[in-house]
Amino acid sequence: MPKLQIAPSLLASDFGRLGEEIKDVIDAGADLIHVDVMDGHFTPNITIGPPVVASLRRYSTVPLDVHLMIADPDRYAEDFINAGADIITFHAEACDHPHRLITRIQSLGCKAGIVLNPGTSEDVIEYLAEMVDMVLIMTVNPGFGGQKFIPDMVRKVKNVRDMVGDRDVEVDGGIDDTTASLVIEAGANVLVAGTYIFGSDSYLTAIEKLRVLE
Ligand code: DX5
Ligand code: ZN
Repeated sequence: MPKLQIAPSLLASDFGRLGEEIKDVIDAGADLIHVDVMDGHFTPNITIGPPVVASLRRYSTVPLDVHLMIADPDRYAEDFINAGADIITFHAEACDHPHRLITRIQSLGCKAGIVLNPGTSEDVIEYLAEMVDMVLIMTVNPGFGGQKFIPDMVRKVKNVRDMVGDRDVEVDGGIDDTTASLVIEAGANVLVAGTYIFGSDSYLTAIEKLRVLE
């Protein structure tokens, strides 16, 4: 299994101090910075767009993992790549031509991943599993931080790990030091955590507590 990576989600950080928050979680051991992009259509919430990602890029010394929770990712993927995204993940539910979009993202020099909502079967990635850099399994419904982990998703993580070999399998939503051990055991190697890390007194301790579960 590929190496465990911890990806703090900025959604739970102080948006007025994004540069400092990035520096602090990187100093505490973050491997990736997870950036949640929501458009008020695909998700009920609205967050940030390409200009903010371009600013974040200047502060981050680790890859930016940009999670597009937007309708029509085909239209916007390139803007986020130009803004400095290192990994783009988009939702299977929001894209009619995922095979084409993965190819296009990769041809622009960016890693590409596909995201599955809790209600979406892993069957949709059968013909994409060999080409994606990452599969992101939502362990909550997208839209908000601080939601409760959906236990049935552990089974999906296992199934996806069997399908993708040593590619990255990421989980997102409700991850803490209890739920993380369940998903790691099932085969996840990239853990997104928002509330658990940014809501803690010590980012260092929170990240270490996830890392020792490997
Ligand atoms: C949810 C986002 C997540 C969110 C996770 O729609 O995709 O990345 O920030 O937050 P926690 O870790 O608080 O569940
Ligand atoms: Zn996310």
